[in-house]
Amino acid sequence: EGFLPFEHEPYFAFAQEEVAQQQREAYRMVRETYVGRTFPMYIGGQPVEGGETFEVRNPADTREVVWRFPGATPEQLEEAVAAAKAAFEEWRFSDPMQRATIFKRAAELLRARRMEFNAVMGLENGKNWAEADGEIAECVDHFEVFARETLKWAQGKPVYPVPGEHVTTVYEPIGVVAVISPWNFPAAIPLGMSLGAIAAGNTVVWKPASETPLSSLLLVELLFEAGLPRNVIQFLTGADDVLGDPLVDHKDVRMIAFTGSKEIGCRIMERAAKVQPGQRWLKRVMAEMGGKDPTVVCADGDVEAAAVGIVQAAFGYAGQKCSACSRVIAEDSVYDELLERVTALARGLKVGSPEENAALGPVIHEGSAQRIMAYVERGKGTARLVLGGERADSGEHEGGYLQPTIFADVDPKDPLFQEEIFGPVLSFTRARDWQHAIELANDSEYGLTAAFYSRDPAKIAEARRRIHVGNLYVNRKCTGALSGTHAFGGYGMSGTNAKVGGPDYLFWFLQTKTVAQRY
Ligand code: SER
Repeated sequence: EGFLPFEHEPYFAFAQEEVAQQQREAYRMVRETYVGRTFPMYIGGQPVEGGETFEVRNPADTREVVWRFPGATPEQLEEAVAAAKAAFEEWRFSDPMQRATIFKRAAELLRARRMEFNAVMGLENGKNWAEADGEIAECVDHFEVFARETLKWAQGKPVYPVPGEHVTTVYEPIGVVAVISPWNFPAAIPLGMSLGAIAAGNTVVWKPASETPLSSLLLVELLFEAGLPRNVIQFLTGADDVLGDPLVDHKDVRMIAFTGSKEIGCRIMERAAKVQPGQRWLKRVMAEMGGKDPTVVCADGDVEAAAVGIVQAAFGYAGQKCSACSRVIAEDSVYDELLERVTALARGLKVGSPEENAALGPVIHEGSAQRIMAYVERGKGTARLVLGGERADSGEHEGGYLQPTIFADVDPKDPLFQEEIFGPVLSFTRARDWQHAIELANDSEYGLTAAFYSRDPAKIAEARRRIHVGNLYVNRKCTGALSGTHAFGGYGMSGTNAKVGGPDYLFWFLQTKTVAQRY
């Protein structure tokens, strides 16, 4: 759309020693310049302190406080919403070409700092180099994609003509969007939602997860540097009782864009349905929630490729992705071979610090480790444990290190098969035949991603028709959606199917005006 052809941002080749050296150097620089600092929030473009500050800890060693952030006060929440509301009156009429140019500039600025952003993310959410790199490359892609999408939606759409009238259908922004985001993708997820909002001409109140605020703050400051009017995004950090319900309930918030747990997503949906005194619209809710994502392997599938894809999707970032593979459903005749291959690969994963680029890092914090271990302990009584099942030895590090864990012969009624665990825990279930495998894949309240391995065109066609998910991957792993290409979002209790990075995403942040004019 007027720009050079789109290309996805290529990943760094960390296997090359000089590239690895650059990543180590970026960690050193980040430790020197960021660790120990207290960062600001932004309201109306001004950096502000809050009431009290809170600590952000390094999941790789939770004794280490890496940085501090302000806790917003209830008054600051009011100020932020008011600032966003005031800024909307100008930004709503901003030139789409100006928006696109800002996003292109931001992409350029981020390209030059990717290693630094990787290191910041590693220190606050425990992603190793490659996982962080995938996410920051996705942020560059988001800037490039949204630059194009903002121009595309500014054009309106043609309608069938009627004689004597000039009729246009145009898309207009809606108002203040509250962006509430999780810690597992602390850069790409809030950035996607915020760019959707501002590309459409809305203004934003951005509330990052308290575990991971710096990955978000650096993106906000990068957007300011790229030329975004500084009052378009308000950035607030702090406790959920100040920033959660009160932000969702606020009468001047037009839309809530949320990614996180099913529990909170449902809560937001319910609260947002209530019309508050003085509220002049029905709130819109985008709620992208969990997954219980299956990989189906048919008897004729490439078992070796499936094993590699399963291990990457199940244990990458310790399984803490809504897109992670957590159920393997294999046809009887390949079940044992697949289980053996997956187990062998998973056994080889090195557990350790993400800063040193270990394959399997810690889970986000102790509370999460304990929740995951409760599933594992219960699973030992209901399924066959074939790998792991204990906390991992992490040397001198103190954190939520868990062994890669695999259960076999898991019953479809078992919580291991039905509930989102959000950790390095994988379940195997045997299917009578490939149709049964598809049935089992669909036996879930969720419907986010699925992978399907087969070489048979008839089976693949049936999988394409029947598997009830927003993102189906045939003969490849079920994580790693690319912005602009694999529009991301699920079915069922995985959420509102908003499809970030897809061709219709901006419509979520717009309303449609028809103008019929006679001369
Ligand atoms: N978009 C990520 C993936 O596809 C999950 O949020 O893995």
